[in-house]
Amino acid sequence: SDRTLVDTPPMGWNSWNTFYCDIDAGLIKDTADAMVENGMKEVGYEYICIDDCWMASERDVNGNLQPDPETFPNGIDAVADYVHKRGLKLGIYQSAGTTTCEGLPGSLGYEEKDAQSFADWGVDYLKYDNCGEHYGLSAIERYTRMHKALEATDRDILLSICEWGDNDPWMWAPEAGGNLWRTTGDIKPLWSAKENLWGNGIIDIIDQNEPLAEYAGPGHWNDPDMLVVGVDLPEYPNLTEAEDRTHFGMWAMMAAPLIAGNDIRNMSEETRNILTNYELIEINQDPAGNQAIRIQRTTGQDGLSRSVWAKKLANGDRAVGLLNRSDRRTTITTSAQEVGLDEASCYVARNLWNGTNWQTAGLIGATALSS
Ligand code: GLA
Repeated sequence: SDRTLVDTPPMGWNSWNTFYCDIDAGLIKDTADAMVENGMKEVGYEYICIDDCWMASERDVNGNLQPDPETFPNGIDAVADYVHKRGLKLGIYQSAGTTTCEGLPGSLGYEEKDAQSFADWGVDYLKYDNCGEHYGLSAIERYTRMHKALEATDRDILLSICEWGDNDPWMWAPEAGGNLWRTTGDIKPLWSAKENLWGNGIIDIIDQNEPLAEYAGPGHWNDPDMLVVGVDLPEYPNLTEAEDRTHFGMWAMMAAPLIAGNDIRNMSEETRNILTNYELIEINQDPAGNQAIRIQRTTGQDGLSRSVWAKKLANGDRAVGLLNRSDRRTTITTSAQEVGLDEASCYVARNLWNGTNWQTAGLIGATALSS
């Protein structure tokens, strides 16, 4: 696919984190309208992605995938048209095995047919999962097959590799045509994993994604999974506003894809403000494409860490993240030198959550973000 499409991390929305299989054409269209109206499109959100459960349980007599006739009665192409008319792009989901994770027909052995269907329908982005049987074929073989099939169509379709980091995709995904690849298992709206609740928390995911910074860059991104900012699920506790900010701030620092997972048709002002924080989005979309590096970590008496993260920006500034894992107020100290700047100069530090600037005598980096 055309790498220039993902010179910076993709931004958009995906149905899974809030809606699971409870999706239909109306939801997707209303979400596209919401993205235009609520200011998300204006700050760069672009892809409206349909996750699992969009298709019928059987292929048609010619072996083609078909959308669920009840929930997508006018087909995926009608939804794609609707989304395109609003200046947005459409994403879809499939799996590099015999079935999707929800047991619907997978693409293994049907790569060319399915890629052609996606191209014919006007799809712009494919999230390609790893469920079902693999018939002994390696991940690299199966993902390469779909990449080649997509390339053989006349449409530019991004390839998002979703094998949860199981086969070290950062080592081979760019070659296999992946524009982004999941580095972790599924995220859930949790600060950190809990025994009684399934899924990874924000903190667990940050730990897993942190050592992979060198693999991220324009056209090929580490994907620590979609956002759970503002995601409200009955079986999970809600994240606090501070946790949501930390999550979004760290995804910005890590040059992660910013794929909102909440119901953007109906979100609180706090959630909207986090998702549309333009200066943080600029950090995420910085053209140098650097993923932040953890440059300091100390452990408090509570056993929880306080850390400093730095991301070198294209203009030479540094984005600095101060990550406090504890629930307590804490002081985290860093220096210009530690974040990679010249100790002798004077800098302006800017808090990107509240817009406060302060002048330093060579103490701290040029762009600061605190959480
Ligand atoms: C896997 C993926 C999720 C989601 C579901 C859909 O678990 O990691 O992001 O796509 O499948 O079934």
